[in-house]
Amino acid sequence: MNTPLLKLSHVHKSFGPIDVLHDISLEVRAGEVLCLLGDNGAGKSTLIKILSGVHRPTSGTLEMDGRAVDFTNPKAATLKGIATVHQFGGTFPLMSIGRSFFVGAEPKKRWGPLKVYDRKRANEIAVRAVREFGITRIDDGDRLVGGLSGGERQALAIARAVYFGARVLILDEPTAALGVKEAAHVLRIIMQARRKGIAVIFITHQVVHALTVGDHFAVLIRGTKAADFRKGEKTREEITDLMAGGEAMAELEAEIEREALAARPHPA
Ligand SMILES: Nc1ncnc2c1ncn2[C@@H]1O[C@H](COP(=O)(O)OP(=O)(O)OP(=O)(O)O)[C@@H](O)[C@H]1O
Ligand SMILES: [Mg+2]
Repeated sequence: MNTPLLKLSHVHKSFGPIDVLHDISLEVRAGEVLCLLGDNGAGKSTLIKILSGVHRPTSGTLEMDGRAVDFTNPKAATLKGIATVHQFGGTFPLMSIGRSFFVGAEPKKRWGPLKVYDRKRANEIAVRAVREFGITRIDDGDRLVGGLSGGERQALAIARAVYFGARVLILDEPTAALGVKEAAHVLRIIMQARRKGIAVIFITHQVVHALTVGDHFAVLIRGTKAADFRKGEKTREEITDLMAGGEAMAELEAEIEREALAARPHPA
């Protein structure tokens, strides 16, 4: 019952001589949102590439439901229910909503001796799945994905992952390119996925977004897990400071102070 759905233990990753991740241990449970925070280049994307079978760890282990797993390719991770949605939704702008929802797994119908793409059914299922996530503006599965807003595309990608049985949903900066309202919508969808019992790993630079939906937080700094805490254990300022490595902010403050001193009129 209390076994983590996904668990990483002591994961290291290097690319030749370049060390990117050191000793990362993390766990996420069903119906929980784990926020992965960290500055540019901290190793967040590398970590999720390990979780989604793009890279294999140099050392360390992955477990699902308490059993060791080894994802040798992205398909192996998908088959275990790990779905990754990228910043722009990862959908195909020139395809219809129905088509993009099913790409590679289209429902078929008989047409004389042939089996052909069942557009009506695909559209119905796709529109229903997206509407379940509260996107009621989408009612026509023939519309092109390219005509959707950023938030709607995210919703479509998330609805698709859930429809195809995702147990772990990894979102890499889903709100980064969105306006405030659109971002709020995506955050609402994250909460819905959580309510469905999915384990969500939410990567973001935006501390406010993380604090709104997160149950559990991990901060990566230069490939190391610098902090791991639960909701309510740290303030927004503390987290922002942590992400900046603390030093960067202290340096900036010192610099401003020096400038202020230099700008002061000299006593006569
Ligand atoms: N295939 C690779 N070969 C060598 N170095 C790599 C490779 N992939 C990533 N890195 C390095 O690993 C570090 C972490 O990169 P990563 O993309 O994981 O960071 P990130 O936290 O996702 O950053 P951002 O917030 O900018 O997306 C970077 O210094 C990057 O140059
Ligand atoms: Mg990244």
